[in-house]
Amino acid sequence: MTQRPFIRIIHGDCRDQLAKLKPESVHLVITDPPYFLDGLDGAWKKGTKDSPRATGTIGGLPVGMKFDPQQGVRLQQFIGHVGALLHRVMVPGAFAVFFSQPRLAHRMAVGLEDAGFNIRDLLAWHFTTKAQFKAFSHNHFIDKMPLNEKDKVALKKSMDGLKTPQLRPQFETMILAQKKKQGTSIDNWQAFGTGFINANESLDGKAPSTVMVVEKPKKETYNSHLTVKPLVLKEHLIKLLSSPHQVVLDPFLGSGTTALAANNTQRSCIGIEIHRDYVSIAQQRLKTTSI
Ligand SMILES: C[S@@+](CC[C@H](N)C(=O)[O-])C[C@H]1O[C@@H](n2cnc3c(N)ncnc32)[C@H](O)[C@@H]1O
Repeated sequence: MTQRPFIRIIHGDCRDQLAKLKPESVHLVITDPPYFLDGLDGAWKKGTKDSPRATGTIGGLPVGMKFDPQQGVRLQQFIGHVGALLHRVMVPGAFAVFFSQPRLAHRMAVGLEDAGFNIRDLLAWHFTTKAQFKAFSHNHFIDKMPLNEKDKVALKKSMDGLKTPQLRPQFETMILAQKKKQGTSIDNWQAFGTGFINANESLDGKAPSTVMVVEKPKKETYNSHLTVKPLVLKEHLIKLLSSPHQVVLDPFLGSGTTALAANNTQRSCIGIEIHRDYVSIAQQRLKTTSI
């Protein structure tokens, strides 16, 4: 008998909560983990009541201007740990989609591979609006150099047009991983209902592609979350990679976009979120809106 779809939001650390879920009970994971630019702990709290400091900065510098390679190493270890916990609760052949900043995607992919997943593909979420160009010139540093005015002018002229290496960001990566199948693809499909993509699902009327063009969502007044992903994109991923009535899991639920997308597409959802304020936002979105 098919179970009616359910939405279950759990407040807690996914590293504790995933261990409590039944093994082989999840058909798809879609998640947008913390990237360690903001830290894993108290730093992920901007806009929440228990906010100790503004996030989005590392050591006081704006996002994107400072990057400690050790953050990538720690991210890989963390994803490896969470990945192993996810692997246990997923049915064979199930897919997992992990959003990632492009410069951290390799670390995330290796973490997932070490946890037992096959890396199937690298997908791109492509957007054109809100793609701010943040590169800047070094003129203000030149102003502070111990040079006379003439040399400063000459140096600035020689560096005209040169900016910090930050191209206008127009895509985010998504790693498509898969738990190994049991038997042939058809055996696995018959036993678990996973392992194939739904080629009839499309964002643009063409065959589903690795580049998914969806604009960034508008800021909702009640949603203070920093990194809300587009609902249309999550609905597309869910329809592409799972079937109605199956269970979608998001261990880093944030403001609940995955749960809303699952609800809109007749899937069940288990969402885990560490911060109570985001849990409340997710619950409010589920109660009051389908967007
Ligand atoms: C990048 S955001 C996800 C945002 C989400 N995509 C959305 O549309 O709202 C990552 C979320 O993971 C949460 N988080 C961080 N560490 C966690 C942990 N160990 N367990 C559960 N949630 C965690 C953060 O509070 C944050 O809301």
